[in-house]
Amino acid sequence: MRRTIKHDFRYIISACLLILTVAAVGTGVIADRWDLNNFVPHIISGYAMALLALAHTVLEFPRLWGYTKGRLRRRSVGRGPADQRDPPVIPAPDSAGKSGRGPSPVSRRGLLGLVVGGTGGFIAGWLAPGFLGGTQESDLGLRYHRWSRPGSLDSEGAVDWGERPPQYKVYPDLERLALPAVDSLFGEEALLGEEDLPTFASIARRRSIRSYTSDPLSQSQLSRLLYAAAGITEERTEFRAAPSAGALYPIETYVLVHDVEDLVPGLYHYAPQDHTLVLLDAGDKRRQATSLGLMQGFLGEAGVVVVLSAIFQRLRWRYRRRSYRYALLEAGHIGQNIYLGATAMGLGVCAVAAFMDDGLNQLLGVDGEREAALYMLAVGNTTQ
Ligand SMILES: Cc1cc2nc3c(=O)[nH]c(=O)nc-3n(C[C@H](O)[C@H](O)[C@H](O)COP(=O)(O)O)c2cc1C
Repeated sequence: MRRTIKHDFRYIISACLLILTVAAVGTGVIADRWDLNNFVPHIISGYAMALLALAHTVLEFPRLWGYTKGRLRRRSVGRGPADQRDPPVIPAPDSAGKSGRGPSPVSRRGLLGLVVGGTGGFIAGWLAPGFLGGTQESDLGLRYHRWSRPGSLDSEGAVDWGERPPQYKVYPDLERLALPAVDSLFGEEALLGEEDLPTFASIARRRSIRSYTSDPLSQSQLSRLLYAAAGITEERTEFRAAPSAGALYPIETYVLVHDVEDLVPGLYHYAPQDHTLVLLDAGDKRRQATSLGLMQGFLGEAGVVVVLSAIFQRLRWRYRRRSYRYALLEAGHIGQNIYLGATAMGLGVCAVAAFMDDGLNQLLGVDGEREAALYMLAVGNTTQ
């Protein structure tokens, strides 16, 4: 009875090991593909695999030990002087005698296993980076970086870099909602709230906050947040709060409003030219924000999630192959303005670049090529 239980236990452990190996490989590939650090399912399956492997080794230890002893003994039988030889415990390997040099320490089957396993491992290791896009040389970012250096030999003349597109994205059929106090935002005094932190205090205090209270944002807070992100700060030139290469402003700003006082929840587009919001799609977007952000729950708990996208042609007609660099840099500038603006107002903020591109582009109503989502920033009230 005890033997049967032990036997069953061994089989269960082997089966679980097999399942966990598949899980570890699967989650490893997912983590690699999506560049997920600390992917919890992968970590758990890895640790569980290690535990089961240890249990397997402990259970099989008598066999392993017996086998090792037998092997060692056979070896000394094959090599030692005739009068010290013990009678063999395990029958001599089948290669013994043929060569006339005594039994080999590795059987033919073992040798074959080693050769097949080694060769298979070598080929898999060689092919896998190609499939997974792993080596540095296959890193397209690196290639792009080299390709976008000035002075590198190129075929500029052969490429049509297109025309300059309109500076502002407009939705002519949709209503524009004025954000509060846009006029009073101009002029330094009007901008500072009584409680606001000064710049250096905001820099020192800024942290990525992932825990929010259920208090809504005020419209005034949202207005100032968007002004810090992409607001026009000089009326004459229409230059904005964040710097932009050639003042071409490729970044568009969207807001997933979860909880803002007197504002219908939904997806909005921010129009800097008159500091207004356009409601693109009404409805609760909490669940979508979370699932598109790879299940990072705080994206559904914040008051708003700002989404930055780029219209690449706004840069491409002038900056050609360097355009993509500039688009990412500009999203970073705006992201930091949002961080500091939110911190100054006592709000919590967290940047998110790990998201499902296709789903988020679809939600914004953009094609992911001419215009593509680059960055999400959750902003909300916090106790931290
Ligand atoms: C490009 C970028 C992407 C980020 N993506 C995420 C993310 O997907 N999820 C998250 O929780 N934090 C994200 N962060 C926030 C970082 O984890 C955070 O800045 C870092 O831990 C340092 O903490 P601090 O911002 O409080 O100084 C991101 C930050 C940057 C700059």
